Amino acid sequence: MLFCDGRDNKEMHTLHFVVPCVISFFLLLFPDGLSVADTNMKAASQCSEADYSVSEGTAFQTNLRSLLDSLASNVVQRHGFYQTIVGKKGNKVYGSVLCRGDISAGNCSDCTLNSTRVASNDCPMSKDVSIWFRWCYLRYSNESFFGNMQPTAVAITNETDVDDPSMVSEGLSFMSGLAAVAPEKSFMFHTEVLNLNTSQSGKKRYGMAQCTRDIRKEDCKTCLDDQLVNFRTLIGNKRRWEIYGSNCFMWYNDYQFYSNVSSLLSGESFHTCSYAIIDVIA
Ligand SMILES: *[C@@H]1O[C@H](CO)[C@@H](O)[C@H](O)[C@H]1NC(C)=O
Ligand SMILES: *[C@@H]1O[C@H](CO)[C@@H](O)[C@H](O)[C@H]1NC(C)=O
Ligand SMILES: *[C@@H]1O[C@H](CO)[C@@H](O)[C@H](O)[C@H]1NC(C)=O
Ligand SMILES: *[C@@H]1O[C@H](CO)[C@@H](O)[C@H](O)[C@H]1NC(C)=O
Ligand SMILES: *[C@@H]1O[C@H](CO)[C@@H](O)[C@H](O)[C@H]1NC(C)=O
Ligand SMILES: *[C@@H]1O[C@H](CO)[C@@H](O)[C@H](O)[C@H]1NC(C)=O
Repeated sequence: MLFCDGRDNKEMHTLHFVVPCVISFFLLLFPDGLSVADTNMKAASQCSEADYSVSEGTAFQTNLRSLLDSLASNVVQRHGFYQTIVGKKGNKVYGSVLCRGDISAGNCSDCTLNSTRVASNDCPMSKDVSIWFRWCYLRYSNESFFGNMQPTAVAITNETDVDDPSMVSEGLSFMSGLAAVAPEKSFMFHTEVLNLNTSQSGKKRYGMAQCTRDIRKEDCKTCLDDQLVNFRTLIGNKRRWEIYGSNCFMWYNDYQFYSNVSSLLSGESFHTCSYAIIDVIA
Protein backbone atom coordinates (compact mmCIF):
# COMPACT_ATOMS: atom_id res chain seq x y z
CA MET A 1 0.00 0.00 0.00
CA LEU A 2 1.25 3.41 -0.94
CA PHE A 3 0.73 6.38 1.36
CA CYS A 4 1.05 10.03 0.58
CA ASP A 5 2.59 11.83 3.48
CA GLY A 6 0.71 15.02 4.07
CA ARG A 7 2.77 16.73 6.76
CA ASP A 8 3.89 19.39 4.33
CA ASN A 9 0.38 20.51 3.49
CA LYS A 10 1.20 24.17 3.65
CA GLU A 11 4.04 24.05 1.19
CA MET A 12 3.62 24.51 -2.51
CA HIS A 13 5.26 21.27 -3.52
CA THR A 14 2.32 19.23 -2.21
CA LEU A 15 0.50 19.33 -5.51
CA HIS A 16 3.44 18.13 -7.56
CA PHE A 17 3.95 15.34 -5.14
CA VAL A 18 0.32 14.34 -5.04
CA VAL A 19 -0.05 13.87 -8.77
CA PRO A 20 2.43 11.02 -9.28
CA CYS A 21 1.11 9.47 -6.11
CA VAL A 22 -2.40 9.35 -7.45
CA ILE A 23 -1.42 7.90 -10.74
CA SER A 24 0.05 5.03 -8.78
CA PHE A 25 -3.17 4.64 -6.87
CA PHE A 26 -5.03 4.64 -10.11
CA LEU A 27 -2.89 1.89 -11.54
CA LEU A 28 -3.21 -0.12 -8.38
CA LEU A 29 -6.88 0.28 -7.77
CA PHE A 30 -8.66 0.97 -11.04
CA PRO A 31 -7.60 -1.60 -13.60
CA ASP A 32 -10.75 -0.88 -15.58
CA GLY A 33 -10.32 2.84 -15.37
CA LEU A 34 -13.38 5.03 -15.40
CA SER A 35 -15.23 3.05 -18.01
CA VAL A 36 -17.42 1.25 -15.48
CA ALA A 37 -20.78 2.61 -14.35
CA ASP A 38 -20.69 4.88 -11.36
CA THR A 39 -19.87 2.76 -8.37
CA ASN A 40 -18.22 3.74 -5.17
CA MET A 41 -14.52 3.14 -4.74
CA LYS A 42 -11.58 4.50 -2.85
CA ALA A 43 -9.77 7.17 -4.82
CA ALA A 44 -6.87 7.90 -2.46
CA SER A 45 -5.78 8.14 1.13
CA GLN A 46 -3.32 10.41 2.87
CA CYS A 47 -1.86 9.67 6.30
CA SER A 48 0.43 11.82 8.39
CA GLU A 49 3.56 10.23 9.83
CA ALA A 50 2.97 7.54 12.41
CA ASP A 51 2.63 8.99 15.88
CA TYR A 52 2.76 6.55 18.78
CA SER A 53 0.37 8.61 20.87
CA VAL A 54 -2.38 7.27 18.58
CA SER A 55 -1.91 3.72 19.88
CA GLU A 56 -4.71 1.53 21.11
CA GLY A 57 -6.09 2.60 24.48
CA THR A 58 -4.82 6.20 24.40
CA ALA A 59 -7.16 9.13 24.96
CA PHE A 60 -6.63 10.24 21.39
CA GLN A 61 -7.68 6.85 20.06
CA THR A 62 -10.80 6.82 22.27
CA ASN A 63 -11.76 10.30 21.09
CA LEU A 64 -11.11 9.33 17.51
CA ARG A 65 -13.43 6.33 17.80
CA SER A 66 -16.23 8.45 19.14
CA LEU A 67 -15.60 11.10 16.50
CA LEU A 68 -15.89 8.56 13.69
CA ASP A 69 -19.10 7.16 15.17
CA SER A 70 -20.53 10.64 15.45
CA LEU A 71 -19.69 11.50 11.84
CA ALA A 72 -21.34 8.34 10.59
CA SER A 73 -24.48 8.83 12.65
CA ASN A 74 -25.01 12.52 11.89
CA VAL A 75 -23.95 13.01 8.28
CA VAL A 76 -27.27 12.03 6.70
CA GLN A 77 -29.37 14.31 8.92
CA ARG A 78 -27.00 17.17 8.08
CA HIS A 79 -27.65 16.77 4.35
CA GLY A 80 -24.38 14.99 3.70
CA PHE A 81 -21.95 17.35 5.41
CA TYR A 82 -20.99 17.15 9.07
CA GLN A 83 -18.12 18.47 11.16
CA THR A 84 -17.51 17.87 14.81
CA ILE A 85 -14.84 18.00 17.53
CA VAL A 86 -14.26 15.43 20.26
CA GLY A 87 -11.97 15.70 23.27
CA LYS A 88 -10.01 18.33 25.13
CA LYS A 89 -6.60 19.98 24.95
CA GLY A 90 -3.88 17.72 23.54
CA ASN A 91 -6.33 14.95 22.68
CA LYS A 92 -8.79 16.95 20.64
CA VAL A 93 -9.83 15.50 17.27
CA TYR A 94 -11.46 17.54 14.52
CA GLY A 95 -13.47 15.58 11.96
CA SER A 96 -15.41 16.23 8.81
CA VAL A 97 -17.31 14.18 6.26
CA LEU A 98 -18.89 15.21 2.96
CA CYS A 99 -21.05 12.98 0.77
CA ARG A 100 -21.40 13.59 -2.94
CA GLY A 101 -24.61 15.55 -3.43
CA ASP A 102 -26.40 13.12 -5.74
CA ILE A 103 -26.08 9.91 -3.77
CA SER A 104 -28.80 8.44 -1.59
CA ALA A 105 -28.94 8.77 2.18
CA GLY A 106 -28.22 5.05 2.51
CA ASN A 107 -25.16 5.24 0.30
CA CYS A 108 -23.93 8.33 2.13
CA SER A 109 -24.15 6.55 5.43
CA ASP A 110 -22.49 3.40 4.04
CA CYS A 111 -19.74 5.36 2.36
CA THR A 112 -19.00 7.24 5.59
CA LEU A 113 -18.80 4.01 7.56
CA ASN A 114 -16.58 2.44 4.93
CA SER A 115 -14.26 5.43 4.87
CA THR A 116 -13.86 5.32 8.65
CA ARG A 117 -12.88 1.64 8.37
CA VAL A 118 -10.38 2.42 5.64
CA ALA A 119 -8.92 5.19 7.80
CA SER A 120 -8.38 2.83 10.73
CA ASN A 121 -6.90 0.26 8.41
CA ASP A 122 -4.66 2.42 6.19
CA CYS A 123 -3.60 5.03 8.73
CA PRO A 124 -3.84 3.41 12.18
CA MET A 125 -1.14 5.60 13.78
CA SER A 126 -1.83 8.92 12.07
CA LYS A 127 -3.31 12.06 13.55
CA ASP A 128 -4.06 13.75 10.25
CA VAL A 129 -5.93 11.57 7.78
CA SER A 130 -7.83 12.13 4.54
CA ILE A 131 -9.74 9.37 2.79
CA TRP A 132 -11.21 10.06 -0.62
CA PHE A 133 -13.93 7.80 -1.89
CA ARG A 134 -15.84 8.59 -5.05
CA TRP A 135 -18.99 9.18 -2.99
CA CYS A 136 -17.60 10.68 0.20
CA TYR A 137 -14.63 12.45 1.69
CA LEU A 138 -13.47 11.90 5.28
CA ARG A 139 -10.89 14.01 7.07
CA TYR A 140 -9.77 14.13 10.67
CA SER A 141 -6.90 15.82 12.40
CA ASN A 142 -5.58 16.80 15.81
CA GLU A 143 -5.40 20.37 14.42
CA SER A 144 -8.36 22.44 13.32
CA PHE A 145 -8.86 22.62 9.57
CA PHE A 146 -12.48 23.83 9.55
CA GLY A 147 -12.92 26.65 7.08
CA ASN A 148 -9.27 26.58 6.02
CA MET A 149 -8.40 26.07 2.39
CA GLN A 150 -5.92 23.22 1.91
CA PRO A 151 -4.11 22.70 -1.39
CA THR A 152 -3.90 18.90 -1.30
CA ALA A 153 -5.70 17.41 -4.28
CA VAL A 154 -5.63 14.32 -6.47
CA ALA A 155 -6.80 13.83 -10.04
CA ILE A 156 -7.84 10.56 -11.61
CA THR A 157 -8.01 9.95 -15.32
CA ASN A 158 -7.05 7.31 -17.85
CA GLU A 159 -4.15 8.34 -20.10
CA THR A 160 -5.82 6.55 -23.01
CA ASP A 161 -9.15 8.38 -22.65
CA VAL A 162 -8.12 11.17 -24.98
CA ASP A 163 -10.90 13.35 -26.33
CA ASP A 164 -11.35 14.80 -29.80
CA PRO A 165 -9.11 17.93 -29.95
CA SER A 166 -12.05 20.05 -31.13
CA MET A 167 -13.78 19.41 -27.82
CA VAL A 168 -10.99 20.25 -25.49
CA SER A 169 -11.63 23.97 -25.16
CA GLU A 170 -15.41 23.46 -25.08
CA GLY A 171 -15.04 20.96 -22.28
CA LEU A 172 -12.75 23.13 -20.21
CA SER A 173 -14.82 26.27 -20.61
CA PHE A 174 -17.92 24.25 -19.71
CA MET A 175 -16.27 23.13 -16.46
CA SER A 176 -15.08 26.64 -15.82
CA GLY A 177 -18.70 27.82 -16.16
CA LEU A 178 -19.75 25.10 -13.75
CA ALA A 179 -17.10 26.35 -11.30
CA ALA A 180 -18.77 29.75 -11.37
CA VAL A 181 -22.31 28.41 -10.80
CA ALA A 182 -21.71 25.71 -8.17
CA PRO A 183 -20.74 28.12 -5.33
CA GLU A 184 -24.02 30.00 -5.80
CA LYS A 185 -26.15 26.87 -5.36
CA SER A 186 -27.54 25.74 -2.05
CA PHE A 187 -25.18 23.12 -0.61
CA MET A 188 -22.54 24.31 -3.13
CA PHE A 189 -23.32 21.33 -5.34
CA HIS A 190 -24.17 21.48 -9.02
CA THR A 191 -24.48 19.32 -12.14
CA GLU A 192 -24.72 20.44 -15.74
CA VAL A 193 -24.90 18.94 -19.23
CA LEU A 194 -22.89 20.21 -22.19
CA ASN A 195 -24.41 19.70 -25.63
CA LEU A 196 -21.38 19.67 -27.88
CA ASN A 197 -21.80 21.68 -31.04
CA THR A 198 -18.45 21.12 -32.71
CA SER A 199 -17.58 18.18 -34.93
CA GLN A 200 -19.14 15.90 -32.33
CA SER A 201 -22.53 17.52 -32.59
CA GLY A 202 -25.20 15.61 -30.72
CA LYS A 203 -22.81 14.25 -28.14
CA LYS A 204 -22.85 15.34 -24.54
CA ARG A 205 -20.54 15.81 -21.63
CA TYR A 206 -21.61 15.75 -18.00
CA GLY A 207 -20.07 17.85 -15.28
CA MET A 208 -20.46 18.03 -11.52
CA ALA A 209 -18.83 20.18 -8.85
CA GLN A 210 -19.09 20.39 -5.08
CA CYS A 211 -17.42 22.19 -2.18
CA THR A 212 -17.25 21.47 1.52
CA ARG A 213 -19.74 23.73 3.29
CA ASP A 214 -17.34 25.18 5.83
CA ILE A 215 -15.81 27.57 3.30
CA ARG A 216 -17.27 30.78 1.86
CA LYS A 217 -18.71 30.68 -1.63
CA GLU A 218 -15.88 32.93 -2.86
CA ASP A 219 -13.40 30.34 -1.59
CA CYS A 220 -15.40 27.58 -3.25
CA LYS A 221 -15.01 29.32 -6.60
CA THR A 222 -11.29 29.92 -6.06
CA CYS A 223 -10.83 26.30 -5.09
CA LEU A 224 -12.61 24.98 -8.22
CA ASP A 225 -10.81 27.42 -10.53
CA ASP A 226 -7.45 26.42 -9.03
CA GLN A 227 -8.14 22.72 -9.66
CA LEU A 228 -8.79 23.42 -13.33
CA VAL A 229 -5.54 25.36 -13.59
CA ASN A 230 -3.38 22.97 -11.54
CA PHE A 231 -4.50 19.81 -13.32
CA ARG A 232 -4.93 21.33 -16.74
CA THR A 233 -2.21 19.33 -18.45
CA LEU A 234 -3.51 16.09 -16.96
CA ILE A 235 -7.24 16.57 -17.66
CA GLY A 236 -7.19 19.08 -20.54
CA ASN A 237 -7.46 16.55 -23.36
CA LYS A 238 -9.46 13.87 -21.54
CA ARG A 239 -13.03 12.69 -21.95
CA ARG A 240 -13.35 11.53 -18.37
CA TRP A 241 -11.70 12.74 -15.20
CA GLU A 242 -12.26 13.30 -11.51
CA ILE A 243 -10.58 15.73 -9.14
CA TYR A 244 -10.64 15.22 -5.39
CA GLY A 245 -9.44 18.13 -3.30
CA SER A 246 -9.64 18.99 0.38
CA ASN A 247 -12.35 21.64 -0.06
CA CYS A 248 -13.67 21.06 -3.57
CA PHE A 249 -14.34 18.29 -6.02
CA MET A 250 -15.06 18.03 -9.76
CA TRP A 251 -16.18 15.26 -12.08
CA TYR A 252 -16.34 15.23 -15.90
CA ASN A 253 -17.61 12.37 -18.02
CA ASP A 254 -19.16 11.38 -21.35
CA TYR A 255 -22.18 9.68 -19.81
CA GLN A 256 -24.54 10.61 -17.01
CA PHE A 257 -22.74 9.10 -14.06
CA TYR A 258 -24.69 10.97 -11.42
CA SER A 259 -28.17 10.38 -10.12
CA ASN A 260 -30.96 12.86 -10.92
CA VAL A 261 -32.63 12.67 -7.56
CA SER A 262 -30.97 13.16 -4.25
CA SER A 263 -32.58 12.24 -1.01
CA LEU A 264 -29.66 13.89 0.76
CA LEU A 265 -30.00 17.46 -0.44
CA SER A 266 -33.73 17.69 -0.71
CA GLY A 267 -37.05 16.60 0.54
CA GLU A 268 -38.64 15.32 3.66
CA SER A 269 -37.64 11.72 3.26
CA PHE A 270 -34.21 12.06 4.84
CA HIS A 271 -35.58 12.38 8.36
CA THR A 272 -37.31 9.03 8.39
CA CYS A 273 -34.40 7.52 6.56
CA SER A 274 -31.70 8.81 8.86
CA TYR A 275 -33.41 7.67 12.04
CA ALA A 276 -33.90 4.24 10.60
CA ILE A 277 -30.19 4.08 9.76
CA ILE A 278 -29.07 5.30 13.17
CA ASP A 279 -31.19 2.62 14.80
CA VAL A 280 -29.41 0.03 12.72
CA ILE A 281 -26.01 1.39 13.71
CA ALA A 282 -26.93 1.51 17.39
C1 LIG B 1 -7.61 2.89 -19.92
O1 LIG B 1 -8.64 2.68 -20.86
C2 LIG B 1 -8.34 1.68 -21.82
C3 LIG B 1 -9.45 1.71 -22.87
O2 LIG B 1 -10.71 1.90 -22.30
C4 LIG B 1 -8.23 0.34 -21.12
O3 LIG B 1 -7.96 -0.69 -22.06
C5 LIG B 1 -7.09 0.43 -20.13
O4 LIG B 1 -7.00 -0.75 -19.38
C6 LIG B 1 -7.32 1.61 -19.17
N1 LIG B 1 -6.12 1.79 -18.36
C7 LIG B 1 -6.15 1.85 -17.06
C8 LIG B 1 -4.85 2.04 -16.37
O5 LIG B 1 -7.19 1.74 -16.45
C1 LIG C 1 -26.45 2.76 -3.63
O1 LIG C 1 -25.87 2.89 -4.92
C2 LIG C 1 -26.13 1.77 -5.75
C3 LIG C 1 -25.33 1.97 -7.03
O2 LIG C 1 -25.61 3.21 -7.63
C4 LIG C 1 -27.60 1.64 -6.00
O3 LIG C 1 -27.85 0.52 -6.81
C5 LIG C 1 -28.30 1.47 -4.66
O4 LIG C 1 -29.67 1.42 -4.84
C6 LIG C 1 -27.93 2.60 -3.72
N1 LIG C 1 -28.43 2.30 -2.40
C7 LIG C 1 -29.37 3.03 -1.84
C8 LIG C 1 -29.75 2.63 -0.45
O5 LIG C 1 -29.88 3.97 -2.40
C1 LIG D 1 -19.18 -0.48 1.89
O1 LIG D 1 -18.40 -1.64 2.05
C2 LIG D 1 -19.13 -2.85 1.85
C3 LIG D 1 -18.22 -4.00 2.24
O2 LIG D 1 -16.98 -3.89 1.61
C4 LIG D 1 -19.60 -2.92 0.41
O3 LIG D 1 -20.33 -4.08 0.18
C5 LIG D 1 -20.48 -1.70 0.13
O4 LIG D 1 -20.84 -1.68 -1.23
C6 LIG D 1 -19.75 -0.42 0.47
N1 LIG D 1 -20.70 0.67 0.34
C7 LIG D 1 -20.35 1.87 -0.11
C8 LIG D 1 -21.44 2.86 -0.28
O5 LIG D 1 -19.20 2.17 -0.34
C1 LIG E 1 -0.72 17.25 16.20
O1 LIG E 1 0.08 16.10 16.11
C2 LIG E 1 1.38 16.32 15.61
C3 LIG E 1 2.12 15.00 15.54
O2 LIG E 1 1.34 13.96 15.08
C4 LIG E 1 2.14 17.31 16.49
O3 LIG E 1 3.39 17.59 15.92
C5 LIG E 1 1.32 18.60 16.64
O4 LIG E 1 1.96 19.47 17.54
C6 LIG E 1 -0.07 18.28 17.15
N1 LIG E 1 -0.87 19.49 17.19
C7 LIG E 1 -1.58 19.83 18.24
C8 LIG E 1 -2.39 21.10 18.12
O5 LIG E 1 -1.60 19.18 19.25
C1 LIG F 1 -21.61 26.56 -29.91
O1 LIG F 1 -20.75 27.30 -30.75
C2 LIG F 1 -20.90 28.70 -30.62
C3 LIG F 1 -20.02 29.36 -31.66
O2 LIG F 1 -18.78 28.72 -31.75
C4 LIG F 1 -20.53 29.12 -29.18
O3 LIG F 1 -20.67 30.51 -29.00
C5 LIG F 1 -21.45 28.39 -28.23
O4 LIG F 1 -21.08 28.69 -26.89
C6 LIG F 1 -21.37 26.90 -28.45
N1 LIG F 1 -22.37 26.24 -27.63
C7 LIG F 1 -22.06 25.34 -26.72
C8 LIG F 1 -23.20 24.73 -25.98
O5 LIG F 1 -20.92 25.02 -26.50
C1 LIG G 1 -32.02 12.48 -15.67
O1 LIG G 1 -32.89 13.47 -16.19
C2 LIG G 1 -32.66 13.77 -17.56
C3 LIG G 1 -33.55 14.95 -17.94
O2 LIG G 1 -34.70 15.00 -17.18
C4 LIG G 1 -32.95 12.53 -18.41
O3 LIG G 1 -32.73 12.81 -19.77
C5 LIG G 1 -31.98 11.43 -17.96
O4 LIG G 1 -32.23 10.23 -18.68
C6 LIG G 1 -32.10 11.15 -16.47
N1 LIG G 1 -31.01 10.28 -16.10
C7 LIG G 1 -31.10 9.31 -15.20
C8 LIG G 1 -29.87 8.50 -14.94
O5 LIG G 1 -32.13 9.12 -14.57
